[in-house]
Amino acid sequence: MHRPLLAPSLLAGNHARLAESLAVIENAGLEWVHLDIMDGHFVPNLTWGPQTLADLRPGSKLFFDTHLMLSNPHRHIDAFAKAGAQLISIHVEPDYDVRGTLRRIRELGCQAGIAFNPDIPAERVEPFLDEVDLVLAMTVFPGFGGQSFIPEVLPKIEKLAAWRDKRGLSYRIEVDGGVNLETGRRCRNAGTDTLVAGSAFFKAADKASFIRELTA
Ligand code: DX5
Ligand code: ZN
Repeated sequence: MHRPLLAPSLLAGNHARLAESLAVIENAGLEWVHLDIMDGHFVPNLTWGPQTLADLRPGSKLFFDTHLMLSNPHRHIDAFAKAGAQLISIHVEPDYDVRGTLRRIRELGCQAGIAFNPDIPAERVEPFLDEVDLVLAMTVFPGFGGQSFIPEVLPKIEKLAAWRDKRGLSYRIEVDGGVNLETGRRCRNAGTDTLVAGSAFFKAADKASFIRELTA
């Protein structure tokens, strides 16, 4: 239904030279970059704030796929939209107004995504499917790059694809965490169209063939 896309995660880039890492992605012919925003509370690590995106924005044509791993995402979406995020994914787990926040993301002119962790059943995001442009199924517990893919998530991807067909919806299905050529192929077979890869992308010596294999 959607053209398969690879969205490299900038988390695995050089944090002192983020613009150069973006250029690596752009020069590989890709259109999306995945930006991991962490608050040291919802996840045990910290990354960047809106100013980082705002400063990167003028130097890049990439689509900013922004993954908010925040306990209070609703407090920050306006700032990330203003900074140049084009898609903003929020997690379903914290206690806040998820539906209102998804609607606000769209009101701000961004695409909206709903993300959920590996231990959360797909049914938790089901009530929001008609409010989103993308569903992000985490295939590791978020916080750090370089972790191992959790294959138990695959049946949830099949479920998301089946619900989409049944209801005539058109959200993308994205996976994030531990994606390499082997696990990426399994995700594609299960119905994923949008693959995030951090370490595997930046480590790949032959980026063209890595991209070709994952998005074939
Ligand atoms: C995990 C992040 C991911 C991460 C993926 O907390 O949400 O986007 O960068 O990195 P890899 O591909 O190395 O598992
Ligand atoms: Zn992510």
